[in-house]
Amino acid sequence: MPIIPTPTGLAGLHALRQMWRERSVLGALTVFNRELGNIFRLSLPGFDAVMLVGAEAARFVLVSGRNDLRWRMEGDPVTMLLRHGVLVEDGDSHDQIRRSMNPALHKQMLQTYIESMWRGTDQVMARWHDGAVVDMLPEMRRIALLVLLDTLFKVDFTPDMDRLWRAILKTLSYISPGLWMFSSCIPRLGYADGLRQMDDYLYQMIRLRRARIGEPTDLLGLLVSDPNMDDNLIRDQLLTMLIAGHDTSTALLSWTLYLLGKHPDIMQQAQAEVRTILGDQPPTFDQLRSLPLLDQIIDESLRLYPPIHLGSRRAAQDLDFSGYQIPSGTRVMYSIYVTHRMPEYWDAPDEFRPRRFAPAAPKPAPYTYLPFGGGPRNCIGAAYAQVEAKVILARILQRRILTLSPRRVHAYMGATLEPRPGVFMTTHTA
Ligand code: HEM
Repeated sequence: MPIIPTPTGLAGLHALRQMWRERSVLGALTVFNRELGNIFRLSLPGFDAVMLVGAEAARFVLVSGRNDLRWRMEGDPVTMLLRHGVLVEDGDSHDQIRRSMNPALHKQMLQTYIESMWRGTDQVMARWHDGAVVDMLPEMRRIALLVLLDTLFKVDFTPDMDRLWRAILKTLSYISPGLWMFSSCIPRLGYADGLRQMDDYLYQMIRLRRARIGEPTDLLGLLVSDPNMDDNLIRDQLLTMLIAGHDTSTALLSWTLYLLGKHPDIMQQAQAEVRTILGDQPPTFDQLRSLPLLDQIIDESLRLYPPIHLGSRRAAQDLDFSGYQIPSGTRVMYSIYVTHRMPEYWDAPDEFRPRRFAPAAPKPAPYTYLPFGGGPRNCIGAAYAQVEAKVILARILQRRILTLSPRRVHAYMGATLEPRPGVFMTTHTA
């Protein structure tokens, strides 16, 4: 059996150069893929993983080989934080939890969320003074938090936003890549207060809801009325949805604004589309279908900067991928980011070209475009996130004129892929 290639000195040097250019580790992965192929081993002191890239790899991880892979990784911060959240469970337990949450994210429910989505946007936009420079990264987080808690938990987050802001950022940094990946002995100091604050908030939310009688119409209601769920299991799902459901949208929205700021001609076309269809009224569910350019912009933003840029698993037994043997216990990762930029699948892969997703354009080949993963464990919030992004962006474009400040931005690998140091834009009322 062939040995899985590992970067040599020269590939390492090229990777370092690319990392420096892009100010991001993602540059290194792209170089390794070009020099070593669609499977390579990343072996550093204390850290060992097999990286898979491309359509065949994605199909393997997400579909054909998925029963031989585990999502749950004991000892990883994500598992320690989310405990038995749907994201880190396997087998029947996963399937049961997912089934119990599905109705709240069903397509039919989405139309009932539209008003909350544009109202959250209006609430945050009201803070932007004419002519002021605004960092869109935290602003998109504010909107995403308001919308997520209002739609799925029926809770107004406004009075708690500032009090819990630091705790949320701490929670995200707890699960972001860092030195902990190299040794479980490295102490993780400075997180306890933030994590406790989040728990206090969620357990109180559960208590308050249990005291209220009524038909469950939202996710929290579904969970508290499920006889198989105790408070701890509900807390795990709430935290999972809160983190997975708002940080991804924050990244998508801020990258999209960044890309539009870099391409003012496309921003103008999107603005014209939105204003023609909506006039000065808030968007309705039906009108969302009539904004094709906005759809294409969101799709292209997800291709260039997929908020979840890789998936991580553990091999539950010896695996055979494309003739290579991956021993049981190995950490296996598939890179969405690199797959989205492979010249084999995409013309001018690094360029922002929304029209590549136009209805008349050829569809991407299967498993080459995976912003929401794929297979039975694809993103449970995919439809929700797409509607949400569209409503929020339509509302911003309808009401504001935005100009990007000339600051260098790089892709930062936090809990999601974020534009750092931020997306600074001057805003004017339209
Ligand atoms: C732009 C927004 C979003 C993106 C790009 C995104 C992306 C993804 C991806 C790629 C996966 C699969 C990861 C893997 O294969 O390892 C995933 C899973 C998941 N996402 Fe999302 N997501 C988004 C929004 C949301 C929202 C809004 C929610 C909840 C309201 C959510 C909840 C989840 C959960 C719970 C899973 C795990 C599903 C399972 O294992 O059964 N996501 N997401």
